Amino acid sequence: METILKINNLDKSFGGVHAVNHVSFEVKKGEILGLIGPNGSGKSTCVNLISGVYTPDSGEIIFDGKNIVKMPVPNRADLGIGRTFQSPKPFSNLTVYESVFTIALVHNRHMHDAREKTEQILELTSLKNLSEIKSGKLPIEKRKWLDLARILAINPKLIMMDEVMAGLNPSEMEESIKLVKKINEEGITVIFIEHVMTAVMKLCHRVIVLNEGSLLSEGIPAEVMKEEAVIKAYLGGGYADDKN
Ligand SMILES: Nc1ncnc2c1ncn2[C@@H]1O[C@H](COP(=O)(O)OP(=O)(O)OP(=O)(O)O)[C@@H](O)[C@H]1O
Ligand SMILES: [Mg+2]
Repeated sequence: METILKINNLDKSFGGVHAVNHVSFEVKKGEILGLIGPNGSGKSTCVNLISGVYTPDSGEIIFDGKNIVKMPVPNRADLGIGRTFQSPKPFSNLTVYESVFTIALVHNRHMHDAREKTEQILELTSLKNLSEIKSGKLPIEKRKWLDLARILAINPKLIMMDEVMAGLNPSEMEESIKLVKKINEEGITVIFIEHVMTAVMKLCHRVIVLNEGSLLSEGIPAEVMKEEAVIKAYLGGGYADDKN
């Protein structure tokens, strides 16, 4: 399988905290790659480095064959790199439709195409019947879907989902799993960060495990979850389900 993203020796510290410690991994085109590990292991920092919110101290980020390590956030979005936020902050005054449409307008030249794209995304994310609701009035699980809907409007090739299932009840989670599958079936590569292991097992083709900023293990979910070092890191790591 073709590689869409390659991380080489990525490194980032905040003061004395070595958040990401010389990490290397690859993401294959079309896969759902799980990025897991205890609280504070460096998952969100990786997302922030790949999306361009943070600049690494050293290392390379190769997307579609280009080293993008010095590229600003908007240019990376133009290339098709999208991400959700661990705590989404929608523009409360815009309706759900407007929130998606404003982004679709930036990424589609014609008004008509932007409208069509918005309709299609709202349908896919099951937000159509909530189109006219103010974003700030949405319940938390729908806010995460709106966050996803807004990323879909940039025509992404890769979406990094940072704990989109935290705090959901079992039926909401099943719906969200279906949604992630549908997004992946559209041909979009997914990096899926999650503490809820049932979701990871159901969705991910492969997982990368981080611990204290370093790569601890990598492989097929069912096998990696059996490894002693992984079990120990998770159980001993002071794991909290959703601290947002
Ligand atoms: N902007 C920042 N300034 C200072 N320290 C930071 C910053 N961002 C992250 N860190 C620190 O880097 C380490 C890794 O944090 P990160 O948010 O990447 O972990 P995580 O794996 O996403 O954890 P969680 O599962 O709790 O979301 C933590 O010790 C965190 O406190
Ligand atoms: Mg995080």
